[in-house]
Amino acid sequence: MEREKFSSRLGFILISAGCAIGLGNVWRFPYITGKYGGAAFVLIYLFFLIVMGLPIMVMEFAVGRASQKSIATSFNVLEKKGSKWHIYRYFGMAGNYLLMMFYTTIGGWMLAYFVKMIKGDFKGLDAAGVEQAFGSLTTDLGTMLFWMLLVVVIGFAICSLGLQSGVERITKGMMVILLLLMIVLAVNSCLLPGGTEGLEFYLKPDFGKLTEYGLSEVIFAAMGQAFFTLSLGIGALAVFGSYIGKERKLTGEAVNILVLDTFVALTAGLIIFPACSAFGVDPGEGPGLVFVTLPNVFNNMKGGRFWGSLFFLFMTFAALSTIIAVFQNIISFAQDLWNWSLKKAVLINGAAIAILSLPCIFGMTIWSDFSILGKSILDFEDFLVSNNMLPLGSLVYLLFCVTRYGWGWKNFLKEANTGEGISFPKKIKVYLTFILPIIVLYIFVQGYISLFKSL
Ligand code: PHE
Repeated sequence: MEREKFSSRLGFILISAGCAIGLGNVWRFPYITGKYGGAAFVLIYLFFLIVMGLPIMVMEFAVGRASQKSIATSFNVLEKKGSKWHIYRYFGMAGNYLLMMFYTTIGGWMLAYFVKMIKGDFKGLDAAGVEQAFGSLTTDLGTMLFWMLLVVVIGFAICSLGLQSGVERITKGMMVILLLLMIVLAVNSCLLPGGTEGLEFYLKPDFGKLTEYGLSEVIFAAMGQAFFTLSLGIGALAVFGSYIGKERKLTGEAVNILVLDTFVALTAGLIIFPACSAFGVDPGEGPGLVFVTLPNVFNNMKGGRFWGSLFFLFMTFAALSTIIAVFQNIISFAQDLWNWSLKKAVLINGAAIAILSLPCIFGMTIWSDFSILGKSILDFEDFLVSNNMLPLGSLVYLLFCVTRYGWGWKNFLKEANTGEGISFPKKIKVYLTFILPIIVLYIFVQGYISLFKSL
């Protein structure tokens, strides 16, 4: 059977951007940046995006496009006979599930905030009241379960419509409106009285701040955020490579996606950090940061309830477009590997994800005493994915593409450079083969050392 293709190039870029742009940009990026000291962290993060993220994104697309398969069987198609790269599919898939185990809960918060905004629940609350509202949501088991399950059902329902009619059509429209809306909100936030201090925190590097947490921990976090925001390492983007034709070289497509993703993350910072100083919210607040700052912004804005509802609606969409992409990957894994029908794959995986999402919610409610490595279940799941599976998985893609034991440099280059557009630079082979893997491993080991020291 001919593999279903995207209907247009723009569709491909927006959908891949839809997978990349999500909670990582608007929820995770601001709170991690706030935690690790602002502008100086942002610089390190941007550096990693370009020197690590970009080449690895091209590699994922190349593996997907050359094999015409998802991570379930892509390595089998491309690897040399007798080699074992394909075993990585189980780790990659585990990464996809693990990501969803907390992502659905945060996506649920976005949806809950959309409804709260429409109902006017935040009206008249001061900053402390807004913070309290977030606290009561995140300690309420039943409510969180409800929103999480709703997110899972919506995600799988859209996937069950099939690639073009479901995923592509719905994601495209959402992305464009989200971009416009965020620009309006950023302008509004930057004009807030008292916002300058927050802007400075976000834009004026203070390298002294980096030593507060210890440089290795900050760098480890920046690397994790770079992989997280671009969706690298677990075949989430690779699958889209399998849905496109050979008209364009892959580097140009990757640059487009990186630029869009970074634009959204940086704009989210412009919305949130001025609001922190304007309303006295600590930027190092943690995972609740967007939820305790933004309602204040909307409370103090003309037509705030309208803008606020729109914002949380489109944030829900952004989260959903990522969830749909990952669900799509999980579904096609079952289809490719075990020949399951779409219906069977949707039903079984839907149930599995719903159940697997429970520990994250329990960790904030009935299991709130429980912690691993000093982290809550949410933070621990996030840590496993962002700081472990994504960087190490990205290394697998990298080594697969550059060494002759895998697919090999020549094959990779030929695939990446088929079509029109920007070529992948041949000259960086030495960097990719010998330097980049060592940098990633070094940061990884140093990060663990500093983690254990801080326990
Ligand atoms: N990039 C997504 C986001 O920013 C998260 C993600 C990570 C998706 C890894 C797929 C794979 O929200």
